[in-house]
Amino acid sequence: MANEIIITYETRYNATREIAEKIGEVLAESGLGADVLSIDQISALGHYKVIILGSAVFTGNWSEKAAKFLETNEKVLSEKMVWLFSSGPLGEGSVEEDSKGWRFPEKLQPIADRIAPRDIALFHGKIDKDKLSLMHKFMIKVAKVPVGDFRRWEEINAWAKDIAETLKKEGFGQG
Ligand SMILES: Cc1cc2nc3c(=O)[nH]c(=O)nc-3n(C[C@H](O)[C@H](O)[C@H](O)COP(=O)(O)O)c2cc1C
Repeated sequence: MANEIIITYETRYNATREIAEKIGEVLAESGLGADVLSIDQISALGHYKVIILGSAVFTGNWSEKAAKFLETNEKVLSEKMVWLFSSGPLGEGSVEEDSKGWRFPEKLQPIADRIAPRDIALFHGKIDKDKLSLMHKFMIKVAKVPVGDFRRWEEINAWAKDIAETLKKEGFGQG
C-alpha cells in the first residue's frame, strides 16, 4: 500500500534533508511508513493524509520554493494533517536566543494560520563554510554568525516521536 505520510523538504546544503530523513526514521521505528522526498520530487499531494513540510531559513525566510509550495498547496494542505518545521538558527544557545525570537516567516504566517498545522517547529541548523556559495560565504562573514552543525538530534527525535504518537492515536500504522 502506498504511504499515507509524506515528509517533504526544501534544502540548499542538505541540513534540512537530513532532518527530514531523521523524522522519517523515527516514524518508521513506530511502524509508520513515510515517503521522504524533496519538494522537487513530488507532483501531487492528493493521496497523502499527513504532510510534514520543512524548509531551510535564509535571511528570515523560507526558501523560495518552499514558500511557493505552501502558497500553491494551501487548499489541499488545509484538508490534511500538517506539521511544519524550519531549520535555521546557528549557535549553542536556546533556539529562541539563537533565532532572536524568530519563529516562522512573517509573510507565510497568514497561510499557516489558514492551514492550521498541528505544530510549527524551529530547529537549529548547520552550515559548512566550504560548501557555501561565494555570496553566502560573504553574507555569513559580514553577519558574523557561528559556523558549524548546531542541530540537536534529541529535540528532532522528540518532535518526531510526538508526531508518531499523535498519528498512532488517530489510527495510523494499524496495518
Ligand atoms: C546566507 C545565509 C543566511 C542565513 N540566514 C538565516 C536566517 O535568517 N535565520 C536562520 O535561522 N538561519 C539562517 N541561516 C542558516 C541556515 O538556514 C541553516 O544553516 C540551515 O540549516 C541550512 O539548511 P540547508 O542545509 O538545508 O540548506 C542562513 C545561512 C546562510 C548561509
